[in-house]
Amino acid sequence: MRPNTAMPTGPSTSSTGSTSSTGPTSIFDDLESQVRSYCRSWPTTFTTASGSTIQAEDGRSYLDFFAGAGALNYGHNHPVLLEALIDYLRSGGIVHALDMHTVPKREFLTTFRDRILAPRDLDYKVMFPGPTGTNSVESALKLARKVTGRQHILSFTNAFHGMTLGALSVTGNSMKRNGAGLPLTNSSKIPYDDYFSGATEDFLWLERVLSDSGSGVDKPGAIIVESVQGEGGLSAARPEWLRALSELCRAHGILLILDDVQAGCGRTGEFFSFEESGIVPDIVCLSKSISGFGLSMALTLIRPELDQWEPGEHNGTFRGQNTSFVTATAALNQFWANDAFAEGVRGAPPSCATA
Ligand SMILES: Cc1ncc(COP(=O)(O)O)c(C=O)c1O
Repeated sequence: MRPNTAMPTGPSTSSTGSTSSTGPTSIFDDLESQVRSYCRSWPTTFTTASGSTIQAEDGRSYLDFFAGAGALNYGHNHPVLLEALIDYLRSGGIVHALDMHTVPKREFLTTFRDRILAPRDLDYKVMFPGPTGTNSVESALKLARKVTGRQHILSFTNAFHGMTLGALSVTGNSMKRNGAGLPLTNSSKIPYDDYFSGATEDFLWLERVLSDSGSGVDKPGAIIVESVQGEGGLSAARPEWLRALSELCRAHGILLILDDVQAGCGRTGEFFSFEESGIVPDIVCLSKSISGFGLSMALTLIRPELDQWEPGEHNGTFRGQNTSFVTATAALNQFWANDAFAEGVRGAPPSCATA
């Protein structure tokens, strides 16, 4: 962080000429809802950003460790992505198109198949569930219930899956859960990897009750898991734990939903955070860094046999932002055409990570 040279201390003047007695952040305090949160930790006003640096209007610059809570894996305003976006907008390219066919959507799907799915031998249908991670989680839970005909979903202690009611019902944080204002039903929590510090054998209880017709525990339709819990405290599951979970799901006909909203798109040194474990989840949720540029975008990847939606059964106005497709395609071409970026994340010299 550079020394502050121009910290405003006195009253500020708005564009209409009126003077505020409380300074340059007063509009946020006066008008913005109490629900605002991150900004309370950083009482400054940001202006520009480049790579891992963000600039504030008081002249300070900051190293951005927050990185959009995982939405900026390639940094702020990457020049290649920025140019692709500006070129597209200047060309008069269609921006909003719901789920209509567009050239950027075609290019994104083709690039995603060729650069991400095919090299990993993954066979998934791609669904655009809405603009954010919670939309992807919501669609995954709905689909799992529809396909299996079972309502109950298991999730893990300290899990975080989003703020809509379905996603909240599988989230652990009690403060967030209390915000629902109604009982969050049809889900139960089971211990995440190492919850008992290795003292209890993994999945012992679950395996036992699923095999015992007298246990009174209904078989869940799905288990949803993060291979690295982000909001829940940066806790990574061991690859062998994930494999055991995947095997347990297969053995009992339970769908495995992998929420890679935060840990995906290269965060762990592979495109998908579960690659090291070798498992193939039934459904994968992706968002945050998939657009590469901090634009909203989400995907739900579905094993083809499970893609049993009726047309329009899960809908939404902002499921196909072409600006996001443009930057997402540029990001896949820039960072996933070879291994240099992933190797950089895994620990090679930093010059690789910023290639
Ligand atoms: C693992 C995980 N799933 C889902 C979400 C929800 O994503 P969004 O905030 O884009 O709705 C988050 C957000 O932090 C997350 O970390």
